[in-house]
Formats: sequence, C-alpha cells, structure tokens
Amino acid sequence: MMLSNNKKLIAVIGATGQQGGGVVRALQAGGQFKVRALSRNPDKHRGLADEVVEADLDRPETLKAAFEGAHGVFLVTNNWEPGTDEAKQATEAIRAAKDAGVKHFIWSTLPNVEAISGGKFNVPHFTGKAKIDRIVKEAGFVHHTFVIAPFYYQNLVGALAPQKQADSSLSWALPLDPDERCIHMGDITELGNIVAGAFAHPDEAGHGEYLPLVGDFMSFNEIVDTLNRQGHDLSYKQVPKESFAGSFPGATEIAETFGYWEAHTYLGSDSSAQIALANKTAGKQPSKLSTWARVNLPVQGPMKGEKSQ
Ligand SMILES: NC(=O)c1ccc[n+]([C@@H]2O[C@H](COP(=O)([O-])OP(=O)(O)OC[C@H]3O[C@@H](n4cnc5c(N)ncnc54)[C@H](OP(=O)(O)O)[C@@H]3O)[C@@H](O)[C@H]2O)c1
Repeated sequence: MMLSNNKKLIAVIGATGQQGGGVVRALQAGGQFKVRALSRNPDKHRGLADEVVEADLDRPETLKAAFEGAHGVFLVTNNWEPGTDEAKQATEAIRAAKDAGVKHFIWSTLPNVEAISGGKFNVPHFTGKAKIDRIVKEAGFVHHTFVIAPFYYQNLVGALAPQKQADSSLSWALPLDPDERCIHMGDITELGNIVAGAFAHPDEAGHGEYLPLVGDFMSFNEIVDTLNRQGHDLSYKQVPKESFAGSFPGATEIAETFGYWEAHTYLGSDSSAQIALANKTAGKQPSKLSTWARVNLPVQGPMKGEKSQ
C-alpha cells in the first residue's frame, strides 16, 4: 500500500464550487492522490481535502504556494464572478503551474463558438475559454487534458429554474426552439470522475484529449417530458430573443448561446468519440437526466404519480 506521504499531490482550483468540488470528491474516492483544495477563503473550508490552501486567480502572487509540490492542477475559471478576466486568470495560473514544475494540467474548457459559427454568435463564456486551450498546449506540460462541462442539470433548479406563472403553474420562457435536440447535458458533480480518471491514466488522456461530460442529449421538450413523466407538471414557451435579451444581466449572452446551440448544438460537432473516451476515462457512465431528477428535482405538492417511460 502506498503511504499517504508518497502520494502525488493534485491542486484543485474552484474546489469549493460545483466543478472543482466534484473533482475533489472523485480524487478522494479514488484514493490514489493527495488533494489540495484551493480557495480565496481557505479558513472557511477547513477539512475539505487533505490540505486547504489559499489561491486567488486575481492575485497571482498567491499561486506559487498554491501549486508548490503539486503533480497535477485542475483549473476552472468563473466568468459569472463580476470583474473576472478569464484569459488573464488562466494565463497566470498556467504560468505559475509551469514554474512550480506541475506535470499534468487539466483545463475546463468549452467549444470555440466564434470558430464553429464563423463569427455569427458572440458567446464569450464559451469562446473565451476555448482560446485558452492553445496557451495550455504550448506551455509544455508533460501531460495536459481538456475537459468540457455540459449544460448542468443543476441549472434546472438554479439559474434556469422554471418560473411560477399567474395560475401558479411552473414554466420556462426561453428564446430556444424546444423541438431542437441540441443540449448536451450532465450532472456537473460527475465531471470529477473524468478529471480523476485523466490524472490516474495520463497515458490514455494526457495528450491534449478533449473529454466532454454528457449524460443526456436532449431538446427542451424532451427535458420537460422527462420531468413530467416523473409527476411534474411543467411547461415551456418559446419567447422572442429580443424580449428576453434585456430581461436580466447576462440575458443577452444566454440568448446568443441558445442561438448557437440551435445552429450547431452545445458541443458544436459530432463528439461521440470524445464522449466515449471521457466515459472510459471516468470508469463509469454519467447519469441520465431522469436518474438525477428523481433525487434532485423532487415533485412539489401531491404526486401525480410517475408514468412509465
Ligand atoms: N452552468 C453551466 O451550465 C455551465 C456549463 C459549462 C461551463 N460552465 C462554467 O463553469 C464555470 C463556473 O464553475 P462552477 O460552476 O464550478 O462555479 P461555482 O460553483 O460558482 O464556483 C466558483 C468557484 O470558483 C472559485 N473562484 C472564483 N473566483 C476565483 C478567484 N479569483 N480565484 C480563485 N478561485 C476563484 C470559487 O472559489 P472560492 O470562492 O472558494 O475562492 C468557487 O470554488 C463558469 O466559468 C461557467 O462558464 C457553466
């Protein structure tokens, strides 16, 4: 048995969040690596991993100690955090990891919408991440891997939860054609299985492979049908882009994102080989929406009774 002291160390940015949290848990479950959780507020998260250390991507001077002695680094940047410059943050993190002698760097990226759509759609939180891929590649790590987060199932109970209507029913009103099967989705807590698998098997997934997490590929009508079969009474109304775009901060970018999905799908191309490799690397199949929803989206009020699928 390998003594804990001899285990290689993985440093995880975003360890207190959805993506990084899943990475921490999967690495701990695997037992092969020592885990260093990184946070801007380490004192608030003591006990999260073997070590909890300060890292602030906006204060690059914190990154030297954060990555010191690490064999691997997982990086996710959070464009929704006000004031975030993802390119600057990622560039500093890649440089600091290289300087610290990190061997395996895993970057949570997204498709390059600008390239895929020939500049038709402006989706900075996708394209901005994709443009960092080249910097990771050219940094010269012994191993590097790209993971791709899907549309989180968690959005359906979070940022994109259905809204209560005047008749107290729950409904989505979005500028997305509900018949278009275009949404690569998944339980974001499972991204960690892919990341942990890639750190454990760099021979299989450490040469710049792209590993998307995809539990289901659906249209919005299929999402609604899946949930309603479990006893929900949800509906969907397509609204014009123009009326949605100004309705809340970030809505314009969401509307652009949906336009891109309709035209090209979330992943932008046939990704079946990449998805198969991601699942092999994770060592398990990702959860379907129906499985996730039974646990995480329970029916409110009296059950209408689950109908067979
Ligand atoms: N929602 C979706 O469907 C979806 C799909 C694909 C990709 N994404 C991407 O996912 C990313 C967000 O990841 P998430 O969902 O895991 O976020 P999250 O749950 O909101 O957590 C954000 C994490 O980022 C860390 N963080 C923020 N600013 C930081 C800084 N300056 N230095 C160091 N750490 C910082 C936070 O750590 P502390 O607060 O502890 O410092 C926290 O752990 C976004 O960039 C988004 O574009 C989302």
